[in-house]
Amino acid sequence: MKLFIDDANIDAIKELIEYYPIDGVTTNPSILAKAKKDPRETLLAIRKAIGDDMIIFAQAVDLSYEGMIQDAHMIMELLGKNTVVKIPSTPTGFKAIKALKKEGITTCGTVVYTPMQAYLAAKAGASYVAPYVNRIDNMGYDGVAIVKQIQDILETNNMDCEVLAASFKNSQQVLELCEYGVANATCAADVIKAFVKNPAIDAAVDDFVSDFQSLTGKTSMCALD
Ligand code: E4P
Repeated sequence: MKLFIDDANIDAIKELIEYYPIDGVTTNPSILAKAKKDPRETLLAIRKAIGDDMIIFAQAVDLSYEGMIQDAHMIMELLGKNTVVKIPSTPTGFKAIKALKKEGITTCGTVVYTPMQAYLAAKAGASYVAPYVNRIDNMGYDGVAIVKQIQDILETNNMDCEVLAASFKNSQQVLELCEYGVANATCAADVIKAFVKNPAIDAAVDDFVSDFQSLTGKTSMCALD
């Protein structure tokens, strides 16, 4: 499973890219709003932080067909190669996804709450579909089960589209989808850090060093005479 950072905090992105095996960054207009800057400035800063070879996802904001196409062009011009344009999975969005596919622009059908919505975005030509796990859970349905269903639909119908599971609030939701072989997940920085936030891990790591130190008086192999 590829792992994306669903965040626009540049310091958090830099830290995660340095220490964790990260595949790229995803954003949406609400995430960009949290950065409280011109969204173009934030997107360019993310591009600079991750380099040209990592994928960045940025969303078309305009809700009209023409506006979605123009936003997509602007995003591509701003961020260059390895950019995926997120388009809401609505009827207007399906039309835009079809047109952008013809132009060779890679899209992600986002705001996915139902399996048939994902099916239609994929059929329109989206390379990714982004179901919102936690938001679906909050509506009283099973977000993880719906993502699994979407994955099955894409596989059964041989669709050239991958799931980008999104909107996670805890490790368990991500774990279940990783186990199921879902191709991509995107999580906020704090959710990714929580994957390895465990006092037992810290205690075990510290114990190894202190046992080595009681044997040798040193805290590293290199420090040995
Ligand atoms: C991704 O496509 C979504 O924009 C994002 O993950 C939604 O996350 P949220 O439900 O935490 O806002």
